Amino acid sequence: MTMRDKLKQLEELRRQSELGGGEERIAAQHKRGKLSARERLDLLLDEGSFIELDRFVTHRTSGFGLEKERYLGDGVVAGYGTVKGRLVYVFSQDFTVFGGSLSEAHAEKIVKVMDLALKNGAPVIGLNDSGGARIQEGVVSLGGYADIFLRNTLASGVVPQVSAVLGPCAGGAVYSPAITDFVYMVRGTSYMFVTGPNVVKTVTHEDIDMEGLGGADVHASTSGVAHFASDSEAACLESVRRLFDFIPQNNREDPPRRETDDPFDRADEQLLDIVPDEPTKPYDILDVIRLVSDEGEFYEVHQDYAQNIVVGFAHVGGRSVGVVANQPAVLAGVLDINSSDKGARFVRFCDAFNIPLVVFEDVPGFLPGVGQEHGGIIRHGAKLLYAFSEATVPKVTVITRKAYGGAYDVMNSKHIRGDINLAWPTAEIAVMGPKGAVEVLFRRQIAAADDPAEATAEREAEYRERFAHPYIAAARGYVDDVIDPRETRARLISALDMLENKRDENPWKKHGNIPL
Ligand code: HXC
Repeated sequence: MTMRDKLKQLEELRRQSELGGGEERIAAQHKRGKLSARERLDLLLDEGSFIELDRFVTHRTSGFGLEKERYLGDGVVAGYGTVKGRLVYVFSQDFTVFGGSLSEAHAEKIVKVMDLALKNGAPVIGLNDSGGARIQEGVVSLGGYADIFLRNTLASGVVPQVSAVLGPCAGGAVYSPAITDFVYMVRGTSYMFVTGPNVVKTVTHEDIDMEGLGGADVHASTSGVAHFASDSEAACLESVRRLFDFIPQNNREDPPRRETDDPFDRADEQLLDIVPDEPTKPYDILDVIRLVSDEGEFYEVHQDYAQNIVVGFAHVGGRSVGVVANQPAVLAGVLDINSSDKGARFVRFCDAFNIPLVVFEDVPGFLPGVGQEHGGIIRHGAKLLYAFSEATVPKVTVITRKAYGGAYDVMNSKHIRGDINLAWPTAEIAVMGPKGAVEVLFRRQIAAADDPAEATAEREAEYRERFAHPYIAAARGYVDDVIDPRETRARLISALDMLENKRDENPWKKHGNIPL
């Protein structure tokens, strides 16, 4: 064969590999409202940037007729490319080949890109669409999964790992996305569960369909397994791309800075009217976050889960920051089991990847209740405390209103190494709110009063005057300054500039023992 003939053969093989399980199955995939593995990569990566590895890999199994069915690539398209000009490693499971199921060879391809990512310090993005372990391969497939889980774990905190679940992801297979930093799902076409509806029906007699058991909304709002839910694959992959505005390539790099024309000292008058005069009235902390962020942009993570805490990314003065904020508009911004978990995981991501933390605090405390206590609010609340305490990135706090009780300590107080802690004049920093405090301190006097309601009101007013302001904390240096809310943006930017070269270290340890 001449070179030209050989090139023809190569072209033909390439064409074959690009067809995956064949045109019919690609059409079936489209009919379900799903894109093919390659179409997804086209949307995810910068145009023309994808370089494929292992396109000629096939499975090595026989039995069950498999020896007659070999597809180039073996159900996963793997390689590298760029997102917004930055190197990323990718794998995209191809449902048209044995339902995207994971064979030994398929797993080896994923392992190869993960190893490259770890060696070269770049993120890994996995697009999952798979029927799970390749049933015909048995334990070899299970071994392949474990090889991936191990790498997910070793890469955790070293390179960012992102999972988009774009089809089924069931059984033990869910544990790879679960270890990664961010899980994206699509409504109506992606599912995650350890056991599917049929097994659930057999074991617990509960009747539920796939969407209800493990669809995008369930995981984005109820279980918290997914951080993002989108209406289409295109929107989902665009959202993954947006994440790259905020995260670095690896744990030794700083996050990308972004040019901004937004003046550093922009002082929005609206900030004066956000916190209501009435201390029990809710307001939306997202208004504050948007007013102080560059161009008013906020990339919210876990938007629909544990909404009493808000976490996400923004730029301030061109710097990427991780925002953690109590949300007074939901459950008065109280800390409970789920919000503690949500906050802690986000704080640890930011700390692992050198992303400064900006905290907005308005928290009446931890949520009381039998359900919370029996559910382990002690253990879960401790995660948030632990996460803030161990974080060594620049940490800035703004107390907008309540900072009560243990929650004052937890929400990045100075005592746990908050670097710059600022309070608005509306801040109330105390062991508890006036109502609770008066009930504890003056129960007998109030019971004996001619008019208990009036006595309560009087005592509350007294308590409020004494404690419900930021100046006792400021007199101790527990807050570094009390500021005009309009100064918030300028002061945040100034603090982050000042902290640019911050160095802080934790004592040597193999790893800590966060109360999981
Ligand atoms: C081999 C598989 C497969 C699998 C699907 N296929 N799953 N082949 N191993 N695990 C094949 C089908 O035979 C079919 O081949 C093609 O993929 C498409 O599958 P369909 O069933 O036609 O598609 P659909 O109706 O959309 O259903 C998708 C599905 C279903 C829900 C994923 O296929 C399914 O339930 N699959 C089995 C799931 C499962 O039990 N996996 C093992 C879980 S345990 P043809 O040739 O007809 O196109 C596990 C352990 C992981 O994963 C352990 C980690 C520790």
